[in-house]
Amino acid sequence: MVIELGAGTGPVTQALRDGLMAESRIIAVEVDRHLAAALQAQRPDVEVVAADSALLPQLAAARGLPPADAVVATLPWALLAPARREVLLTGIGVVLARDGTFVTLLTLASLCRRTGRGFLRQVRSRFRDLRLGIAWRHITPALVLTAHAPSPP
Ligand SMILES: C[S@@+](CC[C@H](N)C(=O)[O-])C[C@H]1O[C@@H](n2cnc3c(N)ncnc32)[C@H](O)[C@@H]1O
Repeated sequence: MVIELGAGTGPVTQALRDGLMAESRIIAVEVDRHLAAALQAQRPDVEVVAADSALLPQLAAARGLPPADAVVATLPWALLAPARREVLLTGIGVVLARDGTFVTLLTLASLCRRTGRGFLRQVRSRFRDLRLGIAWRHITPALVLTAHAPSPP
């Protein structure tokens, strides 16, 4: 089961659907209810949830979701206050399976700003095995962050 955060018009949703087995469950969370409704109409093979990703643990509990194999987020991290990012990252850690994978993007340009570097530090401190790649073909080149949920103490 894969959870996508910030699904928007669905380009990542489509890539996930194309890349995963038909029986794999995809939950796509989008805060804009109009975008969420349009995506659900376009993609009946995905469960679209119109909600704030900050409520992820509650959304998962209300739906009785199993621990997620992966959380893929294209949220606008660099525009968010550190405390808000902390809430979102904590929620992702809560819903991820112990060996689950967290994947997200950060534009390379935002690394020139304190906010982008701060986000990188937050991910590094919360998740384990952080790996960095670059998506040159993203509309502005982006850093791809891939990490694993920390093992419980
Ligand atoms: C950068 S766009 C990415 C959209 C799409 N995934 C893509 O790759 O084109 C960010 C999306 O996250 C949504 N978003 C922003 N904050 C959110 C939140 N707290 N919870 C869920 N979605 C959010 C926005 O409405 C927007 O659709």
